[in-house]
Amino acid sequence: MTIKRVGIVGSGIMGSGIAEVAAKAGHDVVLRSRQQVTADAMVASLEKSLAKQVDRGKLEEADRDAALSRVVATDDLEALRESDLIVESVVEDLAVKQELFRQLDGIVGDDAILATNTSTLPVVEMAMVTGRPERVCGVHFFNPAPMMSLVEIVRPLTATDDTIASVTAFAEACGKQPVEVKDRAGFIVNALLFPYLNNAVRMLENQTASRDHIDQAMKGGCNFPMGPLALLDLVGLDTSVAILDALYEEFRDPNYATAPALRRMVAAGHLGRKSGQGFYDY
Ligand SMILES: NC(=O)c1ccc[n+]([C@@H]2O[C@H](COP(=O)([O-])OP(=O)(O)OC[C@H]3O[C@@H](n4cnc5c(N)ncnc54)[C@H](O)[C@@H]3O)[C@@H](O)[C@H]2O)c1
Repeated sequence: MTIKRVGIVGSGIMGSGIAEVAAKAGHDVVLRSRQQVTADAMVASLEKSLAKQVDRGKLEEADRDAALSRVVATDDLEALRESDLIVESVVEDLAVKQELFRQLDGIVGDDAILATNTSTLPVVEMAMVTGRPERVCGVHFFNPAPMMSLVEIVRPLTATDDTIASVTAFAEACGKQPVEVKDRAGFIVNALLFPYLNNAVRMLENQTASRDHIDQAMKGGCNFPMGPLALLDLVGLDTSVAILDALYEEFRDPNYATAPALRRMVAAGHLGRKSGQGFYDY
């Protein structure tokens, strides 16, 4: 199946990035947020991001205009009816995602594929609340979606080869390098990355080193572009706690047990870049 019309649900960090990627790749995009004002804000931030690329000579004005003309913003889930593929990118909460999948299943056509951008949650549990478990899979973009080349294509037990092939082709059409992975918490990247990020928070809690020295050490010593505490701020601390909790729930590995400081920061509303305060101030 060739994917032309893409519906994106969720107007957070990832939803807007995926919308930009899909629109630039020539897809018609319907962006849905629960409120029209946030859907419109996403389009405004998309305009800003594309304008920056034009200023830097990375994008032709005509291509910017064409990409923007392909995007529609709405607060109405019904507006996703004609989509070939839906990518949901709402909060990392299984019950919320399942309810959304139930609703989408009753709206989109029989051939449409429903995909989740979840970082860790069991994709099969979203598939099984629909009447089309064979056409549900994960399509895990990385943050920031326009810049990061990887997409993990997550195959639940229920997905057909055709579903996986269609979504893989979509990711490639978006200029990404997809890898296929089984439906296990954390897939490849987060299963390997999050013990490291979590242990960096524990190291800070134990006062082994300061925030700046932990980040500086991993940049200078491992050639990472960003230290672990700055990376947690970029991901979002609430999303990070949700990811660690899902990993711990599945594997019971103590490395996945969320560092208490991280949970307390979330309770205080310190969510990282998106709230203006995390390990750093923004
Ligand atoms: N942040 C990252 O680095 C990253 C990377 C890859 C994948 N993801 C995944 O992408 C998804 C979204 O993450 P994000 O970072 O964009 O989060 P975010 O906090 O920036 O945005 C979450 C979005 O979900 C919406 N939302 C919240 N509660 C909702 C509800 N009850 N019903 C419907 N919508 C609701 C919010 O309005 C917001 O638009 C998550 O599944 C996350 O695991 C995140």
